[in-house]
Amino acid sequence: MTNRPASQRVLITGANRGLGLELARILIERGDRVWGTARSPQPAALAALAPEGILTMDLAEEPQIVAAMSKLADRTDGLDLLINCAGIDARAVGAAPAARGPFDLDGDTFTAVTRVNATGPMLVTREALPLLRAGDRATVLNISSQLGSMEVAATSGNDTAYCVSKAALNMVTVKTAAALKDEAITVVAMHPGWVRTDMGGDAAPLSSVESATSIIDVVDQLTLADSGRFLRWDGTEHPW
Ligand SMILES: NC(=O)c1ccc[n+]([C@@H]2O[C@H](COP(=O)([O-])OP(=O)(O)OC[C@H]3O[C@@H](n4cnc5c(N)ncnc54)[C@H](OP(=O)(O)O)[C@@H]3O)[C@@H](O)[C@H]2O)c1
Repeated sequence: MTNRPASQRVLITGANRGLGLELARILIERGDRVWGTARSPQPAALAALAPEGILTMDLAEEPQIVAAMSKLADRTDGLDLLINCAGIDARAVGAAPAARGPFDLDGDTFTAVTRVNATGPMLVTREALPLLRAGDRATVLNISSQLGSMEVAATSGNDTAYCVSKAALNMVTVKTAAALKDEAITVVAMHPGWVRTDMGGDAAPLSSVESATSIIDVVDQLTLADSGRFLRWDGTEHPW
């Protein structure tokens, strides 16, 4: 049993590789109508899934977000699920792997991570609002991280910019959930587990299939009463 509509209209950011690609694969295989975003105009792995559509979008570029969402509005009259999945750690904006502590990064590099991981999803959700309002009990899933938790990051996580950006995304989730509760739009943050992707690396215990399958099972069961929560991929509550 699921609380979700039969063939959902879904938008996934960062659907060209990693967790976003796996989420897209599973949702397309079960019959959902999936649009995926990528920075590359020709993301081969995503195109191979034959999604409903591909949108070009760099989350650091607000005009690209606005333009992509405007294109989407020409192709669908509603969205039932928005998955803000794309994300980076500080290595992606030039930080040395071993130099990501609070005093290692210059200000612009530090800010660039939050720009992609927290500001970007907030802007995507803002631009998706008319479509979400027209959706069937729409849900916004913000893929966060355990490292956005004050409790967890106090003792682990060597990438301060990443931890800060995911804490910011958690706050974006709380504020978005509060702003949209009266409109029956559910907004949650989720730690996907430590997953074997380019970001997670080979030592991670979870495959992207395991993580994505569990995430979708949990999202299928969400109701408005869950809005504003921070969950793990298996549906358990994550501490802030
Ligand atoms: N893997 C883990 O263990 C783990 C743990 C906790 C949380 N997470 C979160 O899970 C999400 C997915 O991570 P992943 O492991 O799948 O990472 P990944 O394999 O490195 O994939 C990252 C995705 O984000 C996209 N992206 C990067 N910069 C972007 C930008 N400026 N604008 C738009 N898209 C951009 C990438 O596109 P390009 O190909 O164009 O770079 C790619 O599609 C992220 O939010 C991450 O923080 C992952």
